[in-house]
Amino acid sequence: MAAALRALLRPGAAAAAAAARRRALLPPPPRPRPGARACSAGAPFQYIVVQKKGAKQDVGLIQLNRPQALNALCDGLMREMRQALDAFEGDPQVGAIVITGSEKAFAAGADIKEMQNKTFQQCYGGGFLADWDRVSTVRKPVIAAVNGYALGGGCELAMMCDIIYAGEKAQFGQPEILLGTIPGAGGTQRLTRAVGKSLAMEMVLTGDRISAQEAKEAGLVSKIFPVEKLLEAAISCGEKIAGNSKLVTAIAKESVNAAFETTLAEGNRTEKRLFYATFATDDRREGMTAFVEKRKAKFTDS
Ligand code: CAA
Repeated sequence: MAAALRALLRPGAAAAAAAARRRALLPPPPRPRPGARACSAGAPFQYIVVQKKGAKQDVGLIQLNRPQALNALCDGLMREMRQALDAFEGDPQVGAIVITGSEKAFAAGADIKEMQNKTFQQCYGGGFLADWDRVSTVRKPVIAAVNGYALGGGCELAMMCDIIYAGEKAQFGQPEILLGTIPGAGGTQRLTRAVGKSLAMEMVLTGDRISAQEAKEAGLVSKIFPVEKLLEAAISCGEKIAGNSKLVTAIAKESVNAAFETTLAEGNRTEKRLFYATFATDDRREGMTAFVEKRKAKFTDS
């Protein structure tokens, strides 16, 4: 998988990837649409830009890059997102992932033009949007850096991440009701858990948006930054996380997530088991030894 990411990031990787696909008898990727920009490093992406950031190149960055549609989350974009997440997940150098959009829009939702003529049979039979779940099953921490609109699926994408940082002009909303539908990628569930029933219900039933400040007060976002400082702050948070033991970080993420998926008693049991499990790691021994010896821990992710 690390090889897959190297291939995606390396200049000239497109040709190598095409050859690999031919060898594997896979169909070629779709032709880029006119006006679409691929990854600056030559990777075969049409809707996203993928890079490694941070002094140690240990933060994976996925930037949504479909400006003409305010980063509406079409099938192709979400397919590329999954490919990039898979590659970062398998890259041992990467310790955290940042997902961001543009200053105007993190993402304005699922692609309404793609959805417009879908039938129930196509949605149900094809498991429409089910594969977006990949964002929430990544084991490495994922930070959403949200500037501008995070609406519908865009708000849901941010909420699938582990930490949300917002630019001071960000707006969050679930406007699906105005389209005659309801949120379909976790909006009614994750928003309610994040901000409580009253505000979630108001947002889902009216389609009204909330500002970055309201989102912070409600606990949806953890920090707010000036628009132009947001990405830098998110990458810096990613570097801080990546500097800890990647193994123990994955354990910590699993334990926090248990709080959303189980009862308190079961969550506490899960936490206790995972806490005990850290005692089987070299990094737990190194962390405590370093503290006692008054030096910085050198984690080996083992
Ligand atoms: N899908 C497809 N295209 C979209 C889009 C979306 N979700 N949001 C914006 N666009 C397109 C517009 O159609 C427009 O394209 P054209 O120039 O080709 O007409 C372009 O992006 C720019 O949009 P606007 O002209 O509307 O820009 P604006 O600045 O006037 O308004 C906005 C911005 C308030 C975000 C407005 O675009 C908007 O309301 N977008 C839709 C938001 C929405 O309803 N999202 C929920 C989608 S449903 C969903 O996500 C279901 C789910 O749970 C997964």
